[in-house]
Order: sequence, then structure tokens, then C-alpha cells
Amino acid sequence: MIEIKNLDKSFGNKAVLKNINILFEDGKTNLIIGQSGSGKTVLMKCIVGLLEPTSGEILYDGVNFINLDKRAKKKLRIKMGMIFQSAALFDSMSVMENVMFPLNMFSNDTFRDKVKRAMFCLDRVNLLNARDKFPGEISGGMQKRVAIARAIALNPKYLFCDEPNSGLDPKTSLVIDKLIHDITVEYNMTTIINTHDMNSVMGIGDNILYIYEGNAEWTGTKDEIIQSENTLLNDFVFASDLFKKIKEYETKKVDY
Ligand SMILES: Nc1ncnc2c1ncn2[C@@H]1O[C@H](COP(=O)(O)OP(=O)(O)O)[C@@H](O)[C@H]1O
Ligand SMILES: [Mg+2]
Repeated sequence: MIEIKNLDKSFGNKAVLKNINILFEDGKTNLIIGQSGSGKTVLMKCIVGLLEPTSGEILYDGVNFINLDKRAKKKLRIKMGMIFQSAALFDSMSVMENVMFPLNMFSNDTFRDKVKRAMFCLDRVNLLNARDKFPGEISGGMQKRVAIARAIALNPKYLFCDEPNSGLDPKTSLVIDKLIHDITVEYNMTTIINTHDMNSVMGIGDNILYIYEGNAEWTGTKDEIIQSENTLLNDFVFASDLFKKIKEYETKKVDY
């Protein structure tokens, strides 16, 4: 569980995040949605400690990350898995070596156990057969799955994904969403996903935070989003005709 309290982030005199309060639950895919430039990445970077908030608290299972000393922060970081916009794999390493990387960096297990763990993670994303390939030799969707395998190698308690579907076709995006959702439930992780993909919202939006110009404008679930009367949210979510129709249908404004 990650709780954000009264979080502000400014760059100079530009306020990017304004008094964010939100609870991200275990075993759920918690989505942060909003237009490009609304503050999703800055929020995620504050949560994982890549940016320092101007004020506020970030509680990891009750512990305020901001107050921790360097050593304690490092210890907590090992429990965080991250998947960023580009898969960010090491091009010169094989698929297997990519997944082994965090294990070699942070695990004291024997080589044999590390290999076993890497194989397990690759099998979990259905990529055992591609273990000797290099990132340049596999598709974008496969690269994302390697990134997921690498992110879960250390058995993280918290998983962060910034636009995991960027650059993927809709069908592959569904596969990635399902995989992230399944492992979240399976390992009871607190998963936070930045997205502006409405398919993801409707597919895996257990909890949704809508950010508008740095404000936490709306929170709810994928079922609640359909019924929401929030104009700013609706302008964003139902910008496409397809989702407008879904909303009309769901709220029984029209008969089909
Ligand atoms: N390091 C920075 N310095 C100054 N402004 C920044 C910095 N990083 C992000 N911003 C600004 O913060 C706002 C939110 O950015 P971002 O979180 O990347 O948006 P999103 O991820 O929702 O597209 C943007 O206006 C962006 O220009
Ligand atoms: Mg972003």
C-alpha cells in the first residue's frame, strides 16, 4: 500500500503537482491517467524517489519514504520494480542477461539460484525460448515482456509502469495489460501505472486517479468512470466517439 499525503511539486515557480492525496492499494492495478503534460510522470518520479517533492508525504506501508536515510531508501528501492516508457533493456545483453542484471546487482543468492529465478520470471512472461536472443532481435511486445520479467526478478512489493503500452499495437497492449494485472494479483503487489490509453482504463482500472493540470481531479474505478458526471474527466475519457457511445449505452441515455 502506498499513500500520498498533501504532495506538492514545483519546478522554480511552476507548480506541477498540487496537494495530491491518494491511496494505492495492494493487489490492485492503480492507474494514473491524464493528458500529456498533466503531471503523471513527475508524480511517479516523486513516488519512486527520482524527484524530491516540494512538500508532502509518501508512505510505503506506513513508512514515510522522504524521511528515510540513504541506506533505508536503498533498501526500500530494492522492493520496487520499474518499467518505463521505452522498455530500456540493455541492447548488448541477451534476454537472459537482462533479467539476471538486477539479481547480480542486488541478490546474494548463489549463481545457480539466480539463474533459476531468472528462468522462472522469463517463463512467467512466456519467453523462456527467447532467452538467448538480443533485444534488437525481438518484437516491441516481447521487449516489454522482458522488461516485466526483469522488473519482477527481485520479487518486488511495488511495481511502477510509466506508459507501458507506448509504441505497442492495441492487441499487444492488451497482452501487456493482462500480464501486469495478473502478476499484480498473483504477488499482491502495489502496482501503479501511468497511462492515457482508454483501453487500459476500461480493462484494468481497478483504481483510477485522474490528474488535471496537477490536481487530483477525480478518483474511482473503471465501473464508476462510466457513470461519472465530472466534466473535466468526461472530456478526457470520452474524447473518442467509441467511448462516448459506450457511456451513452451504459448510462442508458440511448436505446440500442
Ligand atoms: N525537470 C523538470 N523541470 C521543469 N519542468 C518539468 C520537469 N519535468 C517535468 N516538467 C513539467 O511538468 C509538467 C508535467 O510533466 P509530466 O509529468 O512529464 O507529464 P505527463 O507524464 O502527464 O505527460 C509538464 O509541464 C512538464 O513540462
Ligand atoms: Mg509521462
